[in-house]
Amino acid sequence: MEIVALVVGATGIAGRGVSQELINAGARVYGISRHRKGIVLGVEHIAADLLDTASVGKAVRGLKPSHVYLAAWSRRPSEEENIEVNAGIVRTLLDAVAPAKSVKHVALVTGLKHYLGPFEAYARSGLLPPTPVREEQPRLAVPNFYYNQEDEVFAAAKREGFTWSVHRPHTIIGKAIGNAMNMGSTLAAYASICKELGRPFKFPGSAAQWNGLSDMTDARVLGKQLVWASTTDIAKNEAYNIVNGDVFRWNWLWPRIAKWFDVAWEGFEAAPVPLEGQMADDAEVWKTMATKYGLVESDLWRVASPWHTDLDMGRPLEVMTDMALSRKLGFRVYQNTEEAFHDLFATLRAERVIP
Ligand SMILES: NC(=O)c1ccc[n+]([C@@H]2O[C@H](COP(=O)([O-])OP(=O)(O)OC[C@H]3O[C@@H](n4cnc5c(N)ncnc54)[C@H](OP(=O)(O)O)[C@@H]3O)[C@@H](O)[C@H]2O)c1
Repeated sequence: MEIVALVVGATGIAGRGVSQELINAGARVYGISRHRKGIVLGVEHIAADLLDTASVGKAVRGLKPSHVYLAAWSRRPSEEENIEVNAGIVRTLLDAVAPAKSVKHVALVTGLKHYLGPFEAYARSGLLPPTPVREEQPRLAVPNFYYNQEDEVFAAAKREGFTWSVHRPHTIIGKAIGNAMNMGSTLAAYASICKELGRPFKFPGSAAQWNGLSDMTDARVLGKQLVWASTTDIAKNEAYNIVNGDVFRWNWLWPRIAKWFDVAWEGFEAAPVPLEGQMADDAEVWKTMATKYGLVESDLWRVASPWHTDLDMGRPLEVMTDMALSRKLGFRVYQNTEEAFHDLFATLRAERVIP
């Protein structure tokens, strides 16, 4: 099938993943974001501010996308504001492309907060969800911008007659610089600082996360599922979980990541030791390291997002993800999670993001 793809949020961790898979599949790919830096080779970048209707209208003028991939979000201090802004992004974009009457499919990336609740009530509501999380689990009775984004897509699909898919990754492992949430590059920067200063690589999270089962979503696997669902007839009009297909415990993976960086490690002891505290004074250290090793990004906070890794690893329950729905329909992609981290670390080193 000939695909003219519009990736919204094309320089983010999810947007880069789907952009690369679309390019690999031979699609023509347009990508929207405010900044060009980080756009995948082969993607035609369109600069636009998704919070500005006129800017979005101008960006899509003349485009006839057959497939739209929604992978942008803008982090706000409260869920009420997240809903207003992020459902607004979906609405503005879909309204802007509607007159072209070219869209056949819209794929939306959300995440496991669909089941765990938004960050302000993150796995804290007193009602921890059953795990593994399954697509059939009902929405939680708390405000959640993912639900409003889904509803915008469902309403537009009905109005405009396109098919849709929703994709719910667990923590995404992939390259993106200056993005909001990136566990892989956070751990890479943290481990590199530990190595530089001779500090131990300390697991920041909870006992439940250290001992319990976890899974992850490689950005390449997410991208492959987006392309599969948007181009496979029986896969359309469904919401899918998406993870690598293996499970692990942090008490197994943490020492192995430490070994990759050749640093001494410490596991969970009496209480979490959040990275926000551990890394609070590291911005200057990183600047010095950037000069010493010729790194491409001297601002630590564009590489590391400790707040997000702390929330993720600090959860009071183990979280893993059922993949039965897309497996049953033929999506068979698998990615070893340890190798997903190692691939990312090797890329970050090769591209001088870390020493
Ligand atoms: N990261 C994870 O580990 C993870 C895990 C599970 C679920 N998710 C979900 O996946 C979805 C996508 O998130 P992500 O982590 O991929 O995001 P991200 O890496 O932070 O990327 C966001 C993208 O949106 C663009 N963007 C942001 N504000 C914009 C604006 N006003 N105008 C135009 N472009 C804008 C950014 O580019 P510019 O800044 O250049 O504009 C970037 O391309 C979100 O719903 C998120 O909650 C993420």
